[in-house]
This record gives sequence, structure tokens and C-alpha cells, in this order.
Amino acid sequence: MPAPDIYSESLRGFSASYLGILYRVSVILNSTLDLQKTLKYLTDIVREVVNAERCVIDLREECCGIKRETYNFSETHLTDLSETILKTVYEKGKSIRLIDAQNHEDFKRRKSVRRLGIRSVLAVPIKQGDEILGVIYIDNRKIVNAFTDQEQRLLEAIANAAAIAIRNSREYTTLNQSIVDIRDSLLKENFYIEDFLVVSDRMREVVDQIERIKDKDHINVLIIGETGVGKELVARAIHLKSKRAKRPFSSVSCPNLPENLFESHLFGYKKGAFTGANKDHRGKIYIADGGTVFLDEIGELSPSLQARFLKVIETGEIEVLGENKTRKVDVRFVSATHRDIEAMVERGEFREDLYYRLAGYIIEVPPLRERKEEIIPLANYFLMKFSDRSIKGFTAKAKEKLISYDYPGNVRELKTVVQRAVALAEGDYITEKDIVFSRKRRKPLTSDTLSLREVERIHILKVLDKTGWNISESARILGITRQTLRNKIKEYDLKKTDVIE
Ligand SMILES: Nc1ncnc2c1ncn2[C@@H]1O[C@H](COP(=O)(O)OP(=O)(O)OP(=O)(O)O)[C@@H](O)[C@H]1O
Ligand SMILES: [Mg+2]
Repeated sequence: MPAPDIYSESLRGFSASYLGILYRVSVILNSTLDLQKTLKYLTDIVREVVNAERCVIDLREECCGIKRETYNFSETHLTDLSETILKTVYEKGKSIRLIDAQNHEDFKRRKSVRRLGIRSVLAVPIKQGDEILGVIYIDNRKIVNAFTDQEQRLLEAIANAAAIAIRNSREYTTLNQSIVDIRDSLLKENFYIEDFLVVSDRMREVVDQIERIKDKDHINVLIIGETGVGKELVARAIHLKSKRAKRPFSSVSCPNLPENLFESHLFGYKKGAFTGANKDHRGKIYIADGGTVFLDEIGELSPSLQARFLKVIETGEIEVLGENKTRKVDVRFVSATHRDIEAMVERGEFREDLYYRLAGYIIEVPPLRERKEEIIPLANYFLMKFSDRSIKGFTAKAKEKLISYDYPGNVRELKTVVQRAVALAEGDYITEKDIVFSRKRRKPLTSDTLSLREVERIHILKVLDKTGWNISESARILGITRQTLRNKIKEYDLKKTDVIE
């Protein structure tokens, strides 16, 4: 069967300038996948090529969610239009061109046509095969016969190009939506407790430890780890997974605990116990009876407060001010510190007896730079929290930038970086320009705050630097095989550009 002669048919009658317009239309409409932008570009083109007072693009709800966009080109700010004309185009799938609607047999009695005083109308379907995605409607209230036959054919050609662009935008949006949904559901499977994402093996080890002690709820737990690693989340998880979960989790910030308010703050007081005690008050340890007391930043306690805590922990007894009797409380103490508390004990800065009472079991939360595989999942999670789903994700370069930094402030710092990026981002994706770190490099660390792994990492880096990254020479100095060294380089993600403290 011979191919239909559509080319000569549709091009005949188009002047070269019209073909030029059509070429531009296809280029402009293909330049974006954003539906709103597509519609805006489309109306810019219409405004340029026909003498219309306004252009309305009506899209089928089921096509794109957006129902109608009205663009007024003149002073008038009309929003409504003749629904009959639109309906007819949808039903027949053919264009309607009215030379003078006020005198047209079918439309002159229509209320909207009369009320709006519309004269010239041109409405063309936006078609993709048999499916009508929408209608481009233009009108002019002042001029009779404002739109020519040729302009009708031009607008039809523009509508055809628009159909493809609209369909592409629609598919792109649907695809992105499903990417976002998949991302969200993947994330959900990785939460240990609400808001606590666990992806890396290192953090799974932490979770295993929590599981191991969850039923041994009389063992006090000490959580150590750098600032912002998630110590408080671990403390909450210990509480929520234990039999104490239904009782309170009571948090005490040790640096903010004044010496003179120790008893009133932690045990409580009876009304009238001292001037200003207008009603009974139950202290932090009192209310936690049956639950968990979280002692945050335990390393900041003064010697006298250490002694007072020791007494409470040893006896399990508290004395509410003004009660003149002791009460027994059943609490588990979970404490946290970013300090090297063992070194503090050795230096005599922290009581050894208190340390042993608190450290019935020790959980160490690794810094974020030692579990880099968690950076992107965490970043996605924070993105989900901070953006209204309008931002779809991070570009590949943004991800690279996120991974290459070593986060002295750990997860808390990453959270701030993502929050800032959401505020800075302009498009659908967060780019590397939106990723701004607060510090260029890590603060110098003193050896008493370093973990063994960290000491090893820095030492290997120093040797590599000294030998100019000569693997054999470095391995010899370190007393390990070249393969072991290569494994370590990979494990610590060492690079020639790494800063040596
Ligand atoms: N695994 C994680 N999943 C989700 N959010 C996390 C995770 N780890 C930390 N965060 C978030 O990072 C921030 C810091 O966590 P958290 O307060 O538990 O750390 P921290 O070790 O107690 O810090 P600091 O030593 O400064 O008190 C919090 O906003 C927390 O919600
Ligand atoms: Mg904390």
C-alpha cells in the first residue's frame, strides 16, 4: 500500500516563515520536561504568532492533573470561557474557528459568548493518536475574523508538537514519582526505630548489641562516640526495645545540671519544701521509675556531682525534698559521652567506681566517615524530611561531593548540609553547588579522642605521604604485605588528596 501523501498535503500552503516558526516550536518545546514550563513556552509562541487577546490551555484531568491555565495577553483578566466550544472540540476531536461568535448560529445564544462579548475564537485539539490530551483555545473580543485559515493550520501544527511535549512531561513526572516512591519505601525498610536509619554493617553491629542487652534491663549502658553520631538515638532505641518501653525515657543533660539544683531537679520536691515550691514536683529520676534515665554528656560532670550520682546509682534510692524519707526507684541508667572516658578515669578526672557502675555494657557508635555507605541513604532520608517531595534527589556530582567530605560533626552535620541544600536548590535535583559544608577540614584531633581505627588510618596516611604513595616501601615500613596495605587503603577510602592532621 502506498504511504499516504501526508507530507505534501500538510506542508502545502505553509509559507517558509511558518515552517521556521514550526521548527522553533519543536526546539523550544523539547527543551524542557517540566509541564508548567512547557505550557508557558507554548503560550509564548501562541502570543507571538496570532493576534489573540488570551490563550487558554485546557488539559484533561486524567492526562496531567493540571486542568486549566489561562494567559491573558491584553489588559483583560478574563478567566471563564465558553465551555460549549471546549466540549465540542473534545467530542468531535476537530478544531473550531468562529469568525464572529456574536453572529454564529450555534453559539450566539450561549450565555458565556454573549456575556464575554467574544468575537473571534479558535480552539484546536491537542491530540496524540486518538487520545485528546487537551485543547488550545484562543479568542479576541474586539476583532471579527481575527484568525485566518492558515493560522488555524499553524495552531494545529503547534498543538501536535505540544502533544508530544506534554506526553513526555507527563511520563517523566510519573517516572519521577515512582522513583520517589521506591526510594521512600526502600528507606522505610531500613529503620530500626522511628527516625533511626541503619544501613551499614558497622551500625548493624550496634543494633545487634542493642538486641543483645534489651532484656537485660538492669545492666546500665554507656554509649560512646563523637558528637552527632546518633548516641541519643541509640539510647532511645535501647529504651524502646526493652521491657521498660512503656515507662518514661527521662533525659538529663549533665552539662546543664547546676550543683545546687541536683536534688530538686532529679528527685523533686513537695509543695512548701522551700520558698518558691508552690506545688509538688517530681524530678527526672523519680518520674522515670520503671523506665530509663538517659544521662547525656556524662563526661562533663563535676567531681561532686559524680559522687552524688554514684550514691543514687548504688542505692537506687532518692529523697524527695520535703518528704523526709527515702524512696526506692527502679531505673536503668543509659549514659553517653563524646569524650574518651577511659582516659579520663586513668587521669583521675572521672571516678572509676562510677565508671564501672555506668559502663555495665559499652556501645561505641562509629563516626560517619567510617560508614560512608550511609551518607547517601541518610541524605535521602533528610531530603524527604525537609523537602515537600518537589525535589527528586541529588545529582551524581552532588552525591560525589557528599561522600567525599568527612563530617567532623557526623550525622548532625550531614542533616544541616541537606537542610541548607534544600533551601538553596532551584531545580528538581540538588546539585553540587547546593552542597555547602560548614568546615573545610576536620578540627585537629588530639590522640586521646581518637579510636584505634582512626589512629591506624592517620598513621597509614602519614607513611603513604612520606613515601610518595610508594606501596612496597610503605608496606615495608608498616610491616604488612602490599595486599594488606591495598585493602586498608580501600577500607579507609584513602586518597592522595586527603589532609593529614
Ligand atoms: N542513623 C540515623 N538515622 C537518622 N537520623 C540520625 C541517625 N543518626 C543521627 N541522626 C540524627 O542526627 C542528629 C544527631 O543525632 P544524636 O543527637 O542522636 O547524636 P549524638 O551523638 O547524641 O550527638 P551529641 O554528641 O552532639 O549529643 C539528630 O538529629 C538525629 O536525629
Ligand atoms: Mg546527644
